Formats: sequence, structure tokens, C-alpha cells
Amino acid sequence: MSSPQAATNEPRRYQLFIGGEWVDAESGKTFTTPNPATGAPLAEVAEADKADVERAVAAARQAFEGKWSKLSARDRGRLLYKLAQLIEAHAKELAALETADNGKPIRESSYIDLPQVVENFEYFAGFATKIEGETIPVPGQFFNYTLREPLGVCGQIIPWNFPLLMAAWKLAPALAAGNTVVLKPAEQTPVTALELGKLIQEAGFPEGVVNIVPGYGETAGAALAAHPGIDKIAFTGSTEVGKLIARAAADNLTKVSLELGGKAPNIVFADADLEQAVNGALMGIFYNQGQVCCAGSRIFLEERIKDEFLERFKAKAEKIKVGDPADKTTQMGPQVSEEQLNRIKGYVDIARQEGASVLTGGASPELDEQFRGGYFFRPTIFCDVNNRMRVAQEEIFGPVSSVITFTDEVDLIKQANETIYGLSAGIWTRDITRAHRFAREVKAGVVWINTYNMFNAASPFGGYKQSGYGREMGRHAIELYTQIKSVWVDLSGKPIGWFGN
Ligand code: NAI
Ligand code: MG
Repeated sequence: MSSPQAATNEPRRYQLFIGGEWVDAESGKTFTTPNPATGAPLAEVAEADKADVERAVAAARQAFEGKWSKLSARDRGRLLYKLAQLIEAHAKELAALETADNGKPIRESSYIDLPQVVENFEYFAGFATKIEGETIPVPGQFFNYTLREPLGVCGQIIPWNFPLLMAAWKLAPALAAGNTVVLKPAEQTPVTALELGKLIQEAGFPEGVVNIVPGYGETAGAALAAHPGIDKIAFTGSTEVGKLIARAAADNLTKVSLELGGKAPNIVFADADLEQAVNGALMGIFYNQGQVCCAGSRIFLEERIKDEFLERFKAKAEKIKVGDPADKTTQMGPQVSEEQLNRIKGYVDIARQEGASVLTGGASPELDEQFRGGYFFRPTIFCDVNNRMRVAQEEIFGPVSSVITFTDEVDLIKQANETIYGLSAGIWTRDITRAHRFAREVKAGVVWINTYNMFNAASPFGGYKQSGYGREMGRHAIELYTQIKSVWVDLSGKPIGWFGN
């Protein structure tokens, strides 16, 4: 396994992918994406701006009106399947690049991100031939049926926490349904999306079907969201930017789907298998350095197990191996950027000011010389938190859990739902009635019972409340990328009587 040092020796270079060609930005500008483990430059990337987004949207439109719409569903499926196979063949290098660009441990990029990327392309490859209309039993001499058609050109703006996987969640259903795409990766992590562009080319997708425009949110992203030439905008990222996207889209009534922030309750009842619940709490908040929209960041503990749970939770959190993400035994790498690291540090101060206490963590770890420039933070647990504190209400997006205790189930559910978010929730209990009652009552798009962070390409994912709208993955994702046309046919062959005289 190459160390991040080796990966940063010579910055890689990438251009924009527009209309099937690799091109510089019209402005000639580039930006650098660092390796978050060291702070050293990993790649120099062409910086797309409004003018490049214009070109990309035009290329996507041309592809949509041209070759792509003439291709059969089977052939679209075959291309997606070919792409899945190419990704699988290059999984090792893609995982290493994901780790170098994002900082996530290589064991996560190798065994979670990449397999799920392949799974998503495979799942939607099979879906291309199963997108169907319906016949509707209307009365009289009429025959009514529906056509399920693609939307057209889709803008897709993705975040940095699962760079390649977010590209897969967005691209696979859009392409299966027959749309063309302009994809804007996050400025922190553009590398694997651009590598994917090479594989899209190699798989044989017609030019312009997928266009990739790395750049900043305020420039490239905003230009894409406000572009009147797109039919849909799909976004994953902060709730704050989600609102900007929805506003920009409103001007053109562009269709929107949003997958935004969260502040998930992860609830442990006294009757739970404690070992399982502790492991689930660790997985819920420390996985991917806590940079997960569905992170179980509010841990609700039934009061009488508080001491025992916290003792085990703290001990295990302190054993987590933080360090070189390219090392196979590392469990937590650096945060994605200095900006994110500072944001997390800021919340430690806020927690203290609010009267919460730091049970463990709260600072960066001591690491070898080589990683001093990296953005590392220790697994952190805040105790004595109440649900009204900022650390219980705001998305921190780091390895920071806020522990709240409860005694009464009714009050617990009220507190669990007292948040602007509603993406996910977890519950640990052996009482199946309670578990399913909770699943009904919690306002969240995903509920995990005695497990956490489970995903499958066939299972829908998305938020309630300010966590967004629309469901990705599964057949619901096809609904996000298609529209229905209702077709009426008069079977009687007679003239219409009404004004016909
Ligand atoms: P962000 O929401 O600004 O970035 C996500 C994507 O949106 C990136 O591709 C970015 O370039 C783009 N973007 C930013 N401003 C835009 C604009 N005005 N118009 C169009 N596109 C725009 O997230 P950021 O600033 O990187 O992180 C801030 C916080 O957002 C995090 O601390 C976390 O709380 C949350 N977040 C949530 C994610 C999720 O998976 N739901 C992912 C990333 C961040
Ligand atoms: Mg931002």
C-alpha cells in the first residue's frame, strides 16, 4: 500500500470532462486539492466556472436530443454494467485515490465505498429495462396509458464525504432512466469522479452523456443550479446550500431533489444487548470520521445504564486507531479539510460554554512528524448534554457525539423528534413492540433497529423535514429521474359529440 507521502510526491493533473473531451477551463484557472492526511497537494484540477458549465449543459443537451435517446434501454443497461465491471477492475487504485483525496481509512474505501459504488451501477444497470408505464382503467371508449420518460439534462452537485459513492448514487439512476448529466464534484475531493470520467469514456458512453465540471460551489455549483437549460438539479450537502439550490431552481421551476444534513438520534434502552449497542454507537458516530449525514450524533441513553454504557463507550473510543489512512489497520483518518477541522474545534468550545463536559477527545491526536500537517481529530464524547444545546441541535459533521439521558419513552420520542432534521434514527432494544412503535413515531427517512449505517442500492434513502426531499436508490430513484406522460386514445372511431353538432 502506497503511503500518502508517495501519493503526493507529484501532484496529479486533471482537466474538465465536457462533450467526451478532456479540456482546460475557459478561464485557464486551476485549483489544488490537498491530501488531508499531510496537507500536501494531491492534484491540480481545472477549475470550472459559469462558462464551462454553459458548455457542459449544451453538450449534455446535444447528447440527450441525439444519440442517447436513440439507444435502447438494454444498451443503456449494458453500458452501465460495463462501467460497473471497469470500476471493479480498478477498485484498488480508486480506493487508494479516494483515501488520498478524502482521508478516509483505506479499509473503508476498499471494503465499503468501492463495493457500494459497483453495487449501485449494477443495480441500476438492471433497472434500465424495467422502467415501464401503465394502462389505466378509464371508463368509456377510451384507452389511457402512461409513458415513463426521462427528464432530460440533470445537474448533479455532490459532497466530499463519499465522493465516488455519491457520484454513483446520482449517476446510475439518472443514466438508467435515459437522462444526460452535468456532474459537479466537491472542490475538496474531485479526483475519483474525474477518474470515473475516464472509465465512462472507456465503457463507450456516447460523448456528452456525462460531463464532469469540478469547481467551487459559489461559482460552478451556483451556475449549474441556476441554469435554465437543465431539467433537474440533484444535490447532496449542507441544508444551508440546499436552500440556495431550491431558490435558484425556483426561478426556472427546475425539478429538485435534496439530500441534506442530519442530527440523528441513536437510542439505547436498558434492555438492549449492551455490547452490540456500544459497538453500534461507535459505528454511528466515528465511521468516516463522523462526516456522515446520517451519523448517530445524538446518543440517547436510558438513565439506569448510563454509567456502564459510558464506561465501555469511552474505553472503546479511546482504542480507536487514528492516523495514516493508507495503513490497513487505521480506523479513523483525518477530517477532509482544515475548514472542517476548525469547525469541529469550534463546537468543542461551544459545548464547554453550554455546560457540557468532554468525556474523552476534544482535541487533535499526537501523530508522527509526517502527519503533523494533517487535519486529525480524536474521537470525542460530550456528556451532560441536553437536547436544546447547540451541540445537540447543529450538525457538527465530525467524530463528536452528544450524550443525552432519558427515563421516559414518551418524552424520549418527543426529544428525538425535536430537531429541524429528519434523516435517520437508530434504536437498540430487545423489545420488538417498542422498536416498531418507535419506527412509526420517529420523523426520519431511515430507521435502524439494532443496527446502524446499513445501506443497499435497492433500499430508498432520504430525509424528512429539513433533511431534504426525494428518495435515492431503489425504484424511488427512478421516480426522481423520470416523468409521466398520460396518453388518451379514442377507440370508438366516432366524431366527438359535444360541440360536433
Ligand atoms: P456544502 O453544502 O457547501 O458543499 C456540498 C456541495 O455543494 C459541494 O459540491 C459544493 O461545491 C457545493 N456548493 C456549495 N455552495 C454552493 C452554492 N452556493 N451553489 C451550488 N453548489 C454549492 O458543504 P460544505 O461547505 O463542504 O460543508 C459544510 C457542512 O455541510 C458540513 O460541516 C456538514 O454539516 C454539511 N454537509 C453535509 C453533507 C451531507 O452528506 N448531507 C455533505 C457535506 C457537507
Ligand atoms: Mg459550503
